[in-house]
Amino acid sequence: MAFSAGAMGTNDNEGKTGIMWTLGDGDFEYFRNVVYRESGIRLTELKKALVQARLTKRIRQLKMGSFAEYSEFVRENYNDELVHLINCITTNKTDFFRENRHFEFMENTIFPEWMGKKKNSIRIWSAGCSTGEEPYTIAMVVLEHLPGAAAKDVKILATDIDTTVLEKGATGMYSADNVADIDTPLLKKYFLRGRGPNEGNFMAKDPLKKMIRFRRLNLLDETYPMKGQFDLIFCRNVIIYFDRETQLRLFERFYNYLRDDGYLFVGHSETLTGLTSRFKLVSNSIYRKVL
Ligand SMILES: C[S@@+](CC[C@H](N)C(=O)[O-])C[C@H]1O[C@@H](n2cnc3c(N)ncnc32)[C@H](O)[C@@H]1O
Repeated sequence: MAFSAGAMGTNDNEGKTGIMWTLGDGDFEYFRNVVYRESGIRLTELKKALVQARLTKRIRQLKMGSFAEYSEFVRENYNDELVHLINCITTNKTDFFRENRHFEFMENTIFPEWMGKKKNSIRIWSAGCSTGEEPYTIAMVVLEHLPGAAAKDVKILATDIDTTVLEKGATGMYSADNVADIDTPLLKKYFLRGRGPNEGNFMAKDPLKKMIRFRRLNLLDETYPMKGQFDLIFCRNVIIYFDRETQLRLFERFYNYLRDDGYLFVGHSETLTGLTSRFKLVSNSIYRKVL
């Protein structure tokens, strides 16, 4: 049996029985408005159970007794609590070599192009990088398949709104389950096997780590701190959480942040068709600027 917000749900009940409190309509409305306004993430009615489960963890952490108490706490400590609220709400599913056709395209189409242009300075942005599997994959593909990569100036900026996932990404430490999608020779070449307390974990080696910078960046922010443009922008499986208006604004920003000969990658289930004519499709969910 679930308790109503603010009624019977005490932390004691929660702790002893694992019972979850019920998120009332009013509090859900408040949280979904805050989340939409601050992150662009749209939470439909269908997401109510998910929000309830995810915020329960935070309420438990704060040793509070109900959603009503937590929503009051958010109102009173808005600036400090916002980051934790958003961290709870984001969906961070990701994998190494996810949607591998994009990495094959890098190897087969983009790298020969760069070699032809004798490109030595390369800037890549993984926007919505989650726990880092995407930028580490990009780094491995670059080192493995771009001739002379180690001597080139290659930098990957990995950004996300969620500070928890960024912390994990920056450690470069992954479980055996996490690295299951990496072929054994690549795993051996680019990761160290943990010993002692790190037994069962794998740590990205320096050549990968040195290429990547993890930073918090809310894609909704009015301005971004980056000065230059990028050769590649990966924003995969992020815009699905945004509405059309937010997506449009974002692609306008990406247009300006992408070099004229750059490429934009979105998730396989995402499309710019019918949304903006500023980009043209060149391959499966890969776009270039219309100049
Ligand atoms: C499902 S993950 C995708 C990870 C990776 N790009 C991939 O395709 O495997 C979506 C990520 O987008 C991030 N995100 C959601 N809203 C964001 C925003 N407004 N600004 C920056 N990142 C955001 C989430 O925190 C989450 O880590």
